[in-house]
Order: sequence, then C-alpha cells, then structure tokens
Amino acid sequence: MKVEWKKGYAIGVEEIDGQHQELFARLNALLEGEENGRGEKELLATLAFLDDYTKRHFAAEESLQRRFAYPHYEMHAAEHRHFLRTLAELHERIATSGPTAQNVKLACHSLESWLITHICTIDRPLGEFINRNRNQEWEKWLRSQF
Ligand SMILES: [Fe+2]
Repeated sequence: MKVEWKKGYAIGVEEIDGQHQELFARLNALLEGEENGRGEKELLATLAFLDDYTKRHFAAEESLQRRFAYPHYEMHAAEHRHFLRTLAELHERIATSGPTAQNVKLACHSLESWLITHICTIDRPLGEFINRNRNQEWEKWLRSQF
C-alpha cells in the first residue's frame, strides 16, 4: 500500500507542507524500493536520505519555534525526538537482520502513521500560530530556513 501525502494533512504553511510532502515521498520510495526488489544498497541509501531529511526538517521547525517563542516548543521537540528514536531502531533492525520485506514494510507504515498523527495534531496548531503572526520578518526567515 502506497504511502501518500493528502491535502487534508496540510497545515497551511507552504514551506512546511512542502517538506512534509517530501517526507511522504521518501517513505514511499523506500516502500516501493522494497516491493520492486531493489538492492540492499539502494534501500540503505534511501533510508540514509530519509534520516538526513527528517533531521533537517525537524531542526528547521524547532528553530522557528525557538525564534518566535512558540509556547509548546518543549512538547513538540520531545515528539520529534521520539520519531528519531523510532528511525534509529529501524536502522538497528536493518543492521542486524537486513532490509527484509517485513522490516521495511513495518517501519514505513509505522513512520507514516506517526507522521500523520504528528502533523494533524501537533504541527497543525503550529501552522495556526505561524499564520496568525507571520509578517515580513517571518517571511524572510521562513524562506531562509525551509
Ligand atoms: Fe513537527
């Protein structure tokens, strides 16, 4: 089953929504890579990219929250750390038993459902906060970060 970003996941901030779409696309590439029998090397490269992209995305979101004194920053950042731990567990599983179909599928779908819940419940209020407050200074900053 495809991992797909849907319009309903939009939080109304183009820069962040764009990165979320990319995250879904990367997860899907990982899943399709496994389904199409692509080699271990390619799966590991996709996983490494997902890893890197997720870290950059979370860092940008968190830095925005610190910069503009978002009141729920601590809780939000803790959620991000939780996701990174899940991703690290996936790395460990793959390192010990290889990117088996079961490992990849399970991981992609659990990361997907985490993302959907996170975006719809935690990122959405952040989107509202940004849209309530954004001004020229924010625009400039958003463009430089995302
Ligand atoms: Fe977030």
